[in-house]
Amino acid sequence: MTEKDFIPKAYPAAVEHGEVTWQSPSNIALVKYWGKLDNQIPANPSISFTLDSCRTTTKLKFQKKQKSAADFDFRLLFEGEEKDAFRPKILKFMQRVEPYLPFLKDYEFTIETSNSFPHSSGIASSASGMSALALCLMSLERQLNPEMDEEYFTRKSSFLARLGSGSACRSIEGELVVWGMHNNIYRSSDLYGVPFRDEVHDNFRNYRDTILLVDKGEKQVSSTLGHDLMNDHPYAETRFRQAHDNLDKLKKIFRSGDLSEFIKVVESEALTLHAMMMTSQPYFLLMKPNTLAIINKVFRFREETGLHLCFTLDAGANVHLLFPEKEAQETLEFIESELKQYCQNGQYINDRVGSGAKKLA
Ligand code: PMV
Repeated sequence: MTEKDFIPKAYPAAVEHGEVTWQSPSNIALVKYWGKLDNQIPANPSISFTLDSCRTTTKLKFQKKQKSAADFDFRLLFEGEEKDAFRPKILKFMQRVEPYLPFLKDYEFTIETSNSFPHSSGIASSASGMSALALCLMSLERQLNPEMDEEYFTRKSSFLARLGSGSACRSIEGELVVWGMHNNIYRSSDLYGVPFRDEVHDNFRNYRDTILLVDKGEKQVSSTLGHDLMNDHPYAETRFRQAHDNLDKLKKIFRSGDLSEFIKVVESEALTLHAMMMTSQPYFLLMKPNTLAIINKVFRFREETGLHLCFTLDAGANVHLLFPEKEAQETLEFIESELKQYCQNGQYINDRVGSGAKKLA
């Protein structure tokens, strides 16, 4: 599919008003997306686990206007309250997706949104938030074009979510999603995420992700600025090539179920992401002392127990701990007794791999 396939022809149906609600999860990248070209095209392919309980719920109410206006018309409620701080991001999203959703200025919208995870926990809500909003708008488009098939609905939802926040395109489906062209991944695309269709060993079923909230502060580097740092980064080309190679490695690992090899790829990806930030101009150091303390304890735990706990990081200080379901009990006990102390207010979130976004009745 190309961008043009997402530009609709005249809509056969008329829709006056209605509402729709979607719940969309966050995701955690194993191979990281870091660096982009124009229009949110990724500089390298990435793959993520879709999460389950870290979710955004978004209700979209729509009412057709008497006549189409020059501007977008929307109210935004976050956790029940008007939230002006989020308006610019939504406005920019609407501007970007309008060529693909030409009805946007014909309606008055109310967007009511809330997160399952604590507010300003340092967990990025852009992936779950943007994907939930994209799905709501696609539900309206499907009412305008009832012939739309499921495949188109899903691909276009991911395509639109990507225009809101790149990694959001990986939150529509589960359990493993690839975004970005990769020679050895069937139907992979720079335009949207696709489920990883190869064989996946049972070791990765129900994989756990416990998120340790190390630092709940505002992000020091926005992802827009962060991606831009890769534009004239001295190691960019090597890094982009490495991401392709790591996807090839993971493809084999998913088939074989080799958890030790999985850990090597995933931890190296996390540290490479941070290494890119430390070696860009300007440079950023986003890990905190507690991030490092946790990482060192994870290394020691692995050595002492032979279990397969590993970490990954996003562009921040929080730590995602990944581990197989069958090792969950011992690992969770270790987290509670040894790692909780490094979390702000002792806060962490137990999540796991999930199957993607859901429409609520
Ligand atoms: O979707 P963005 O633009 O917020 O970028 C997210 C980048 C990372 O979270 C650091 C990595 C990833 O692939 O999710």
